[in-house]
Amino acid sequence: MGMGGRFVHGDDFAAAVWRELNPEPFKRKAVEPVSPGSRERRLRAIEEAGYNTFLLRSEDVFIDLLTDSGTSAMSDRQWARMMKGDEAYAGSRSFAFLEETVRELFGFRHVIPTHQGRGAENLLSTALIRPGHFIPGNMYFTTTRAHQERNGGTFVDVIIDEAHDPQANHPFKGNVDLDKLRDLIRRVGPANIPYMYLAVTVNMAGGQPVSMANMKAVYELCREHGIPVFVDAARCVENAYFIQQREPGYADRPVREIVREMMSYADGCCMSAKKDALVNIGGFIAVNDDELARRLRELVVLFEGMPTYGGLAGRDLEAVAQGLWEATEDAYIRHRVRQVEQLGEMLRERGVPIVEPVGGHAVYLDARRFLPHLPQDLFPAQSLAAALYIVSGVRSMERGIVSAGRNPQTGDHYRPRLELVRLTVPRRVYSLRHMRVVADAAAQLLSLRDAISGLEMVYEPPTLRFFTARFRPVSPWGI
Ligand code: F0G
Repeated sequence: MGMGGRFVHGDDFAAAVWRELNPEPFKRKAVEPVSPGSRERRLRAIEEAGYNTFLLRSEDVFIDLLTDSGTSAMSDRQWARMMKGDEAYAGSRSFAFLEETVRELFGFRHVIPTHQGRGAENLLSTALIRPGHFIPGNMYFTTTRAHQERNGGTFVDVIIDEAHDPQANHPFKGNVDLDKLRDLIRRVGPANIPYMYLAVTVNMAGGQPVSMANMKAVYELCREHGIPVFVDAARCVENAYFIQQREPGYADRPVREIVREMMSYADGCCMSAKKDALVNIGGFIAVNDDELARRLRELVVLFEGMPTYGGLAGRDLEAVAQGLWEATEDAYIRHRVRQVEQLGEMLRERGVPIVEPVGGHAVYLDARRFLPHLPQDLFPAQSLAAALYIVSGVRSMERGIVSAGRNPQTGDHYRPRLELVRLTVPRRVYSLRHMRVVADAAAQLLSLRDAISGLEMVYEPPTLRFFTARFRPVSPWGI
């Protein structure tokens, strides 16, 4: 049914449309053609890619939901700013714009650019972690944990238990369990905890947010023990939107103010600008402490570049700063998170099993429930991602037993409880129609699921195997 008939004179029709239909708060100025191609071509492509969506060529992909990282569409204002980029080796005007922007939006004094998020993680981990240290965090992230371990630290998961259950319905499933954190501090002593690392939102839990109350409580607990708190800010604006929607007292506060308050409960942050800052490359680390900033500037010259450009061009710094202003506009962020939620709603309506509640940047298919006949050794999530591509040209990502890798001691697979396929929505790129194609494709596949016999691995690289492993069906699939 259309919306027209339900309105009487004097109602604000436009406002209601805005709320219900979630139209894009932008219009197109440049486009890139995409098409599903033929079934034969997709079959050939997935064969050549060894049934691994990471190995597909992007020109063989129709709707690319591999990641939301570096895949955003930039605005006309960002492109215009790029033209004005100041490429001076030192003292660039573009750096000054980024610095002012981060100070204003996040409230941190020192801003140091890096080439992307993991560049910032490298600086922070190298500056503060020594062998024997423990770093608490709300669930691991691959690059973050790798940098902590490289410096001799051990990551300790202090997220609430609900985060590990795909069907537990909690509004802030990314929250820290304060008892787990207290327990760690008691067990190893605050001197062995260089900092607490708090991700907002939590990628590996499904893009789940942390509440303001929890951020504040974590900060206070850590401060009592002299432990600084650093935030992984990659998706902090999405987190702020969830606070606005779900936490009492924030409904009328602009997202920009909420972001600023969130950061007031931290001593600094690492930012992968490739997510919420709406750019294709970039990042930074921002901190308050003068002495730490001095050490980070010493390290940035070693790994990235001068402290005023950190591995980026002046034009990139412009795009990041402008992107941050746009990302923190309520109309933008509402549309963004709503679109992901709408994909979740369409999947739910079609009976497709997903992780609940839907997170900020992605909807996750629950491959255990989607393909209940497949044991984990036949790679259900890997199979599902490949099958989805075959039927529709939609590219997704496995987040299950393949991503988890092997236990170096026993040589057996790690067997994670979560066996998921991530449908990650790029920002400002696809329409609701595209989301509808994804939902219909998943529903179509659900009706054919018995014809998917699973995969066997025919090539396994020694590390981060999910990127390059190759597979083949254990018997032909009838999809
Ligand atoms: N932190 C989080 C929460 C991330 O999701 C990522 C990247 C990083 C840090 C690292 O940032 O890529 O700029 O070096 N996540 C991407 C993804 C790769 O697809 O989820 P980076």
